[in-house]
Amino acid sequence: MLKKKIEKKKFVKRPKLEKNKSKTETKNESGSSGKKAYNLLRGMHDTLPKDEKYWKALYHKAEDLAEHFQFGRIETPLLEEANLFIRSIGKGTDVVDKEMYVFEDRDSNRVTLRPENTAAIVRAYIMHGMWNMVQPVKMWYWGSMFRYDRPQAGRFRQFNQVGFETIGDPDPVQDAELILLAYNFFKDMGLPVEIHINSIGMPEERQKYKIALVEYYRSKRSYLCDDCKQRLNKNPMRLLDCKQERCQPIKEEAPQIISWLEEESKNHFTKVLEYLDELGVPYSLKPNLVRGLDYYTRTVFEVFPVANENEAIEPGSQSALGGGGRYDLLVEEMGGKSTPAAGFSLGIERAVSALKQYYDAKQMKFASQPLDAFMAQLGDQARRRALKTINDLRASGLKIAYNFSKNSLKGQLETANSLQVPYALILGQKEVQDGTIIVRDMESGVQEIVDQKKVEHLLKKKLTRFDEDKKKM
Ligand code: HAM
Repeated sequence: MLKKKIEKKKFVKRPKLEKNKSKTETKNESGSSGKKAYNLLRGMHDTLPKDEKYWKALYHKAEDLAEHFQFGRIETPLLEEANLFIRSIGKGTDVVDKEMYVFEDRDSNRVTLRPENTAAIVRAYIMHGMWNMVQPVKMWYWGSMFRYDRPQAGRFRQFNQVGFETIGDPDPVQDAELILLAYNFFKDMGLPVEIHINSIGMPEERQKYKIALVEYYRSKRSYLCDDCKQRLNKNPMRLLDCKQERCQPIKEEAPQIISWLEEESKNHFTKVLEYLDELGVPYSLKPNLVRGLDYYTRTVFEVFPVANENEAIEPGSQSALGGGGRYDLLVEEMGGKSTPAAGFSLGIERAVSALKQYYDAKQMKFASQPLDAFMAQLGDQARRRALKTINDLRASGLKIAYNFSKNSLKGQLETANSLQVPYALILGQKEVQDGTIIVRDMESGVQEIVDQKKVEHLLKKKLTRFDEDKKKM
């Protein structure tokens, strides 16, 4: 009997784990060489060349706006002292309590991969004596941040932010300028966004508000989700952040911080809104917007894609593309002189995804930087001359695409078509000998033969972009 039982139970011998094999290593089934292939760590992602145009366009836009609004580029390390972020972002926040990559380095220093950059910018402002400079000091950055978040759509463990910080000016005009910048960043890319805005006042005002909030939520305790029950004791402001269905009606009826604001905070907020009205920046007042980091004072805001814009983006389906606000107490808190400040940052992965979604839904092609022409060539000699011509045209500021791996003219013109270039330049054996080149209008198909020496001038004349640029000069 016993023997039968043993026979019935089939033992599957588990293969021993290879020494040093990480949990993420898997066999790659397709295209396998039979050797071990590796996967990404959870929450990490690669950015592939197919998305380069979005990344490039966003970077150029950031650079362009920074120059226009006079922000200087700052670069800080990925690794900082853990306490820098714990003190600034605050214990009790999700970022500090659950999401920081903290570890000891070989000298037993407690370090962290930066979960955000505002604290590091403030550290740099103090450390490099920037209060001695003309105020405000305006700085921008672009780089990777790390949060050990639960990975899901739009939520990664390593992600990129572009950020703008204005340190040293309490005027509401600075809040408005930052919001305008965030708004323009997306508007210029063709993506309609709206600003959600609130004022969370100063700590004293918040303290009084929290008492009312806790009292209200205590009376509803039995209806709350488990997280909210904890928030009630640990960080009551976060109650307003809850996304659970069951907590929504409670949240809607909750007391609003705006009623606890005193004259100065109220005036500040009113002025920010007046500036936004003047600038034509669309915003929605969100009394429950409190943000997930502790350092904010008064103005807080977030950027969202406009829902219902031809149903390109499903309402409520998106997380914030960016967020920020004023942080008037942080510089002093971090060891500097009392210095008002404000700033925001935008999530690049989320921006790329929103752009793709929007352009796809509208069946529009996203072009980061328009190409001026495509160089097609036929035969060895022509290829050599083409390479030289491309190089000369590039040096003169023209953007020329080409594909030397295709030999047929048809194939090359198809590529030119798919790249949506306005002109194709065609070089064959005959043109090389004659010192000419064919310029083909890709839309009309009309071709003209021109002297190779004149092609740069002709192309620039045809491209109105250059005429407009000249007018500006
Ligand atoms: P934040 O709201 O924590 O603010 O992050 C800003 C943006 O970064 C978010 O709106 C989102 O687009 C992106 N983001 C955040 N976490 C992730 C993630 N796990 N995966 C992908 N994207 C993410 C800050 O970081 C503040 N430092 C903003 C600021 C600057 N406040 C004042 N100055």
